[in-house]
Parts: sequence; C-alpha cells; structure tokens
Amino acid sequence: MAAERPTLTDTHCHLFLDQFSADRPEVIVRAITAGVSRILVPGIDVESSRAAIQLAEDYDEIYAAVGIHPNSAHLWNEEAGAILRELATHPKAIAIGEIGLDYYWDKTSHNVQEQVFQFQLELASEVNLPVVVHNREATQDILRKLFAWQEELERMNSPIAERPGVLHSFSGELADMEAALAANFYIGITGPVTFKKAQGLREVARRVAPTRLLIETDAPYLAPEPVRGQRNEPQFVEHIARRLSELRGISLERLCLETSTNADALLGWQN
Ligand code: NI
Repeated sequence: MAAERPTLTDTHCHLFLDQFSADRPEVIVRAITAGVSRILVPGIDVESSRAAIQLAEDYDEIYAAVGIHPNSAHLWNEEAGAILRELATHPKAIAIGEIGLDYYWDKTSHNVQEQVFQFQLELASEVNLPVVVHNREATQDILRKLFAWQEELERMNSPIAERPGVLHSFSGELADMEAALAANFYIGITGPVTFKKAQGLREVARRVAPTRLLIETDAPYLAPEPVRGQRNEPQFVEHIARRLSELRGISLERLCLETSTNADALLGWQN
C-alpha cells in the first residue's frame, strides 16, 4: 500500500472574499492536491455566511460557519439573527462564527460589539454548535464572556460544553491559553507563528495541549513564511504545520494527525 499523505485541516479560511474571485476553483483544487482534506469557511456577515454555505454545497471538503464578525457588528438586527438561525440548520453549517470582539479596528462601539457577541453565543447554545472566536486587543473581555457562557453550558448539560469553540488566531499570553484550555476551548494557530519576531506566540504554541491545537490559515490574510506578504490560501496551512511540528519536537505526520483529530472533535466531523 502506498504511503498516504498526511491529512491537513484548515479550520479558518475566507474563500468567499474577492481576493479569490479570479481563481477560487484552482485555489480549492490546489489545497486538496496538497492534502488539505477539510476546510472550514467562517462567514463575516449574513451575505458571506450564505456564500460559505454555497461553497460547502459545491465542495465535499468545505464546511461553513455562520456569523457576524465584530467589524460588521453594526449590521446586526433581529432579521439578521433570524437568518443566521435558519442558516445554522444547514447540515454543513457546523459552527457559529466568526464572532468576537475587535478593539483594534473598532468600527463599532465596544458595547454594541459585546451585545452582538452575546446574542451569537446564545444562538450557538440554542443550535448546539461550537463558536469560532475572533479577538483583537480584547483578550480579557472575550475570555470573561466565554468563560461565563461555558459555565452556563455546563449547568445546562449542553452537548457543546465539552467543545465550546476555538480561539481563532490565538494572540494571548500563556496564562490566557491555559485558562482557555481549562474551559475546554481549542487554540487556533495561524501564520504569525512562523514570523521571526513572534517568540511569545511560539512559546504559547509549543505549550498548547496536543488534544487542543488547531492550525488555520485565515486566508487570504496572514500568509506564513516563506510566502509571507503574498495572498494566503489553504494549501499554505502546511507551512504552519511544519513549523509547529519542529517547535513541538514531533513529526509533521503526527502534527497533521493530531490537529485533524482535534478538528474532528471540535466540529463533529467523522473520519
Ligand atoms: Ni477570519
């Protein structure tokens, strides 16, 4: 039997964005050819959540998350909430995201962002789907909200209390990572882990429990070394996997297997 290529999983990629309009099918085929067998595409508003579901219908390898990103929080209203609830019932909608807080771009007041985040956490517990969480310069506010939500899930005996979500493109401190693991969250590591100056992030990434680590591109953004500065695409998740396997002192095959198994556990995928 021929040796199988390790299966890679990209748990965060925005394939619906304009940066892919000229060559989207080629990008997807390149990823599959490179061994990326599953890609999670999180929406950032209602329209892109619909587009993510359309991609999931078109490709076996693609799954969708539906949600309103904090930078689009001003678009939230009751109707948007109702549409997301409906979209979340699609069989290939397997998470609520990308949701969270962004104090860097700060397009909407913190107050509104927090409300929209809270509404979508409640939606996630209602439909029993884990969350994909965006954080920019808001780590403590995010963790406070997530921990309170996860405690509530435990109290309700929710099936997602054991797999409440992923902290996408993790950028917090070691202590934040450990607190997140203690509340059953997964840690998503993106391209910056390959950047020369990212010593702190590498130390965090090295110490994430093997059962909680995920790899994600966040394409078209955050291209890893050695393609830093280019448009990112899901096939480049292998560069992140390779760097992490070196950091953690394990084989690339094992790193791929661990992160794919973790994605299965978080997202309810079958092998
Ligand atoms: Ni994203």
